Amino acid sequence: MDRKVELELIDELRALAASKTFFVDEAVTRNPVEHYLSEAGFAHERDTIMHRLPHAAAHISELAGAGAFLRCDVYGLPVLLTRDKHGVAHGFHNVCRHRGARLVEAAAGCANRFTCPYHGWTYANSGPLVGAPHFENGFGGIDKAALGLKPLPVKEAFGFIWVVGDPGGVFDFDDYFAPLAGELDALGMTAMTIAAEDRRTCDANWKILIEGGIESYHFRVAHRDTIGPYFEDNLSSYRAFGPHLRSVLPRTSMALLPEAARDGWRIRDHANLVYTLFPTTQFLVQQDHVVWIRQEPLAPGRTGLRLATLAPTGSEPAGGKSRDHWQRNHAITIKTLEEDMKIGEGVHAGLASGANDHVLFGRFEGALDRFNRTVAEYLDPAPTRKPE
Ligand code: FES
Ligand SMILES: [Fe+2]
Repeated sequence: MDRKVELELIDELRALAASKTFFVDEAVTRNPVEHYLSEAGFAHERDTIMHRLPHAAAHISELAGAGAFLRCDVYGLPVLLTRDKHGVAHGFHNVCRHRGARLVEAAAGCANRFTCPYHGWTYANSGPLVGAPHFENGFGGIDKAALGLKPLPVKEAFGFIWVVGDPGGVFDFDDYFAPLAGELDALGMTAMTIAAEDRRTCDANWKILIEGGIESYHFRVAHRDTIGPYFEDNLSSYRAFGPHLRSVLPRTSMALLPEAARDGWRIRDHANLVYTLFPTTQFLVQQDHVVWIRQEPLAPGRTGLRLATLAPTGSEPAGGKSRDHWQRNHAITIKTLEEDMKIGEGVHAGLASGANDHVLFGRFEGALDRFNRTVAEYLDPAPTRKPE
């Protein structure tokens, strides 16, 4: 992060803490509960958001070296990630072009070619069909060159392999990430490794879970037994960068920083930074590591989550610190996120009950409104919601 920006963000939050005021937007806003519950709305989100925008399919350490491959799921699409002999990463539908069999069953490994388990069509890891038994006898006149694996837009950036689930599509990743590219590069996630991870499934809409990560209004209540006491009560700021958000959630230690030591102030020592890369990738930046939180919306009321602690690569297991150190850190994060997931499930059930027509976003929950406005803009370029 630019040093000037870092100090401005700290100064802003220290001033708010000193005056016991909050970072507020202009108006209270509402979001109809239907936006979290509707099957048709979810299908629309999948088609216009999930399958059109980048998904952090893997950390680069999971696809390291020529010949590496990884099978994954991109918002319900079966995907095969490969790294060819030139080191170039590819993403394909994991689907044979003959009659649609799943091409690769293994979760991960190393292979230059993949042979379909049904009739033996064989593909290079860069995509082309390179062999098919009895092809000339049975498929005369069909152009083999047009039967390569169906490619998906792929980009390596900030330590991740990003995939757009739009077969044959084109996506300008550089433009999409441009407003935050410098800050994301500076996090150094390319030189990190996954030190610990968990996967969960939560019975809540994906947007409820994102919302829970970008406000601190709930910290002192919902996280009173975990992280709550270490953070300022209901103080956080946010900025939008195109569709993305950067939230800063300060610990109480930020207000206590001595002015004389200003040159040594480091925002991540005294705040959680949360980058929400639209739609479903969040990076929770902590003092010496980053937690990668990936939402995988499965249904209106069901969301998969991947929660991975990324630690600097070092001589010891990670960052010169023991595996135990990162496991302990990860366990605290998971405990806190489990509190959020449990609350999220309660929220989803509450919304489904019909008790409320809308959720309300207070003026200090502006990041939530901003996020939902971005969703609405992708779904419907003509905005329909108005501030209260
Ligand atoms: S479906 Fe793959 S070779 Fe037939
Ligand atoms: Fe939380």
